[in-house]
Amino acid sequence: MKILVTGGAGFIGSAVIRHIIATTQDSVINLDKLTYAGNLESLLEVSSSSRYAFEQVDICNRQALDKVFQQHQPDAVMHLAAESHVDRSIDGPAEFIQTNIVGTYTLLEAARAYWNALDPERKQAFRFHHISTDEVYGDLPHPSDQATATEHLFTETTAYQPSSPYSASKASSDHLVRAWLRTYGFPTLITNCSNNYGPYHFPEKLIPLVILNALEGKPLPIYGKGDQIRDWLYVKDHAKALYSVVTQGKVGETYNIGGHNELQNIEVVQAICKILDELVPSSQSYSSLITYVSDRPGHDRRYAIDASKIAQELGWKPQETFESGLRKTIKWYLANQHWCQRVQDGSYQRERLGVAQ
Ligand SMILES: NC(=O)c1ccc[n+]([C@@H]2O[C@H](COP(=O)([O-])OP(=O)(O)OC[C@H]3O[C@@H](n4cnc5c(N)ncnc54)[C@H](O)[C@@H]3O)[C@@H](O)[C@H]2O)c1
Repeated sequence: MKILVTGGAGFIGSAVIRHIIATTQDSVINLDKLTYAGNLESLLEVSSSSRYAFEQVDICNRQALDKVFQQHQPDAVMHLAAESHVDRSIDGPAEFIQTNIVGTYTLLEAARAYWNALDPERKQAFRFHHISTDEVYGDLPHPSDQATATEHLFTETTAYQPSSPYSASKASSDHLVRAWLRTYGFPTLITNCSNNYGPYHFPEKLIPLVILNALEGKPLPIYGKGDQIRDWLYVKDHAKALYSVVTQGKVGETYNIGGHNELQNIEVVQAICKILDELVPSSQSYSSLITYVSDRPGHDRRYAIDASKIAQELGWKPQETFESGLRKTIKWYLANQHWCQRVQDGSYQRERLGVAQ
């Protein structure tokens, strides 16, 4: 197969590309605008492969998209390109509306025009896989709200109730994808995944930010009480799930992907400090750097995924526990600090983002 991966220079997209090149005979075209979040250095281990190509293109540019489809003739699209950071969506929603909604619309139309002109056999086999988030579902009851609250999980039929400009823009793009399936018979699949963590994660997100701040002796900021719950999934497990869905998933279906690792943010930060205390001992525990700051406006309190459908239908289950995945992640950051320095590039110094005015 030839797979067009959008957003392939980002955190999850680069993990998907590394997985495909390392474990299959498929070819990949990485289509990415290279925003602050896109880094070709994350693809150094695959960039010399004859099965890898890169196109620097904005998914809002229809002409450029048409050219890429004509030139590379993909069999499938895995669409990951997006603005992805909730805090940035609070500070400046416009880019999120543009890339996540208008960009997804533009990509759908370019892909549909290309698909319409394929011969019947290739048309039948073509897939458009839209990668989305569990944040479209809003938040779940928190254990502190009621005794049975943790029994609630997001399923594929949970109603959409996004809270942030980011999740609302992702929800909109999911709706567009479903409409293109229903109206045009365009062969789409959607996945909604929980919080990812792992190597090559841009240092604005909780886990890399805490690791890097801790190593520099800087405060480890905890939003609000730190009791917000997320379901953490190691990025390599997500990449494997996505490849199963694009190759074996049923057209028109949605699959929820999660790590069965519900943890409060403060527990995640404490776990990082504990591993760092062991790997890079300092005079004081890194947990002494924990600092409580004002909460994120509209902060969702709990996400948790029921991933039984993908387990039953496609046989996918996460392989890493949170402890094993976190240890690998921390070791990666310790060994790759040059990557962290280069991607921050002077434009972002791990300052606080997302405080609504
Ligand atoms: N990170 C998570 O925990 C998580 C969880 C579930 C779903 N998702 C979804 O997975 C996808 C990838 O997330 P990520 O964390 O890798 O994001 P990321 O921010 O690390 O990477 C996004 C990539 O998209 C590219 N991009 C942005 N705007 C573009 C445009 N207009 N045209 C072309 N390329 C553009 C960027 O250059 C970057 O390489 C997103 O759609 C996100 O909503 C992320």
